[in-house]
Amino acid sequence: MKVLVIGGGAREHALCRSLSLDPDVTALHCAPGNAGIAEVAELHQVDALDGKSVAALATDLGAELVIVGPEAPLVAGVADSVRDAGIPVFGPSQEAAQLEGSKAFAKEVMAGAGVPTARSYVCTSPAEVDEALDAFGAPYVVKDDGLAAGKGVVVTDDLAAAAAHANACDRVVIEEFLDGPEVSLFAITDGVTVVPLQPAQDFKRALDGDEGPNTGGMGAYSPLPWADPKLVEEVMQTVLQPTVDELRRRGTPFSGLLYAGLAITSRGVRVIEFNARFGDPETQVVLARLKTPLSGILRAAADGTLADLEPLRWSDDAAVTVVIASHNYPGTPRSGDPIEGLDEVAAQDAPHAYVLHAGTKRDGDAVVSAGGRVLSVTASGRDLTQARTRAYAAVDRIRLDGSQHRTDIAAKAAVEAAQATEAAEATRA
Ligand code: AMP
Ligand code: GLY
Repeated sequence: MKVLVIGGGAREHALCRSLSLDPDVTALHCAPGNAGIAEVAELHQVDALDGKSVAALATDLGAELVIVGPEAPLVAGVADSVRDAGIPVFGPSQEAAQLEGSKAFAKEVMAGAGVPTARSYVCTSPAEVDEALDAFGAPYVVKDDGLAAGKGVVVTDDLAAAAAHANACDRVVIEEFLDGPEVSLFAITDGVTVVPLQPAQDFKRALDGDEGPNTGGMGAYSPLPWADPKLVEEVMQTVLQPTVDELRRRGTPFSGLLYAGLAITSRGVRVIEFNARFGDPETQVVLARLKTPLSGILRAAADGTLADLEPLRWSDDAAVTVVIASHNYPGTPRSGDPIEGLDEVAAQDAPHAYVLHAGTKRDGDAVVSAGGRVLSVTASGRDLTQARTRAYAAVDRIRLDGSQHRTDIAAKAAVEAAQATEAAEATRA
């Protein structure tokens, strides 16, 4: 199968890495890609937001599957253009991608499907904002209605800051605060059948201890040893299948990846948000554990034949990914800084640990930073402790002036899992 991946972040590098190891993939193309993806796929220049250009490129390449990675092209209708050109595409239509493109639309769908989520108000004036903030009280949760690369949400105890963020947006969703740990659960769907992947946890805040501003995600791990073993089944029944059914019922069937961002609250599971594509950085750890070849799964979703797919096979290994971000991220990042140490990781840490590129590009012989999140260092191990150790050993070899990363990705879960294993062994002895 000839495959074209649209996008150029660490998520697309993770997708391309899996596809490059997939025996069913005969040719792998990516547009626009990045310096790391260039090592596993042939890169092409394209305006990823222009459906006609993407469809033309896919036609020229004889692509038999196009995978649209990021949300912006999906919301711009790129998957529709490719589908209209007669090429199988993994990714929802423009209308269905509104599930991510508009938080208000997502709330409407959830209400229709009876999916548990935070109570919310959609506000378009300062008076409505004041009323909503007052109704819920602190901590305040204020969300820009549209796409904001993970940075449109403000959660704060400060009423003035909450109101200021709300009034800076045209349309906002103000909602009830959800406590409890967060889980990202992805599902592949063809609009009818839903196949869940393994859950992961993302670290949204910039700094250790979940301090600092929200980002696109600073690290992730999977599996979640602390989670209820029935979690996936429960979310399938209460969230994923009802949402897919509701979207089909509304005449906007959703095919592609349905990403449920969940809070495990004291009152049960609640949806924080939906996304219409693979999450970044969770994809890096989920794909590190997936044993079934990826192309066949995504093609089945594109073709509407997921019901015939064999059950997915997963590795028992744990995976951890740590994001290395530029100076000043999530503010305007500095770019053009040389990245060193990539060869050392390849020589000393592979195959258990490897570097996935996000914002990077070639500058002569050097690889330089070219975005906020620059690299996503990913590692596998028999448990989270080993995967973490391997990931951070690789992180330590990388030199990028002014860069930042969190030092506590998966730390708490690794310690708890190790304690639980010890306690279980003590009981047995
Ligand atoms: P979102 O873009 O909707 O995923 O929001 C980004 C982050 O803000 C989430 O991952 C949560 O950490 C936080 N957040 C969003 N909504 C809520 C909520 N209702 N209660 C508590 N935290 C929230
Ligand atoms: N990891 C969060 C996202 O992909 O939106």
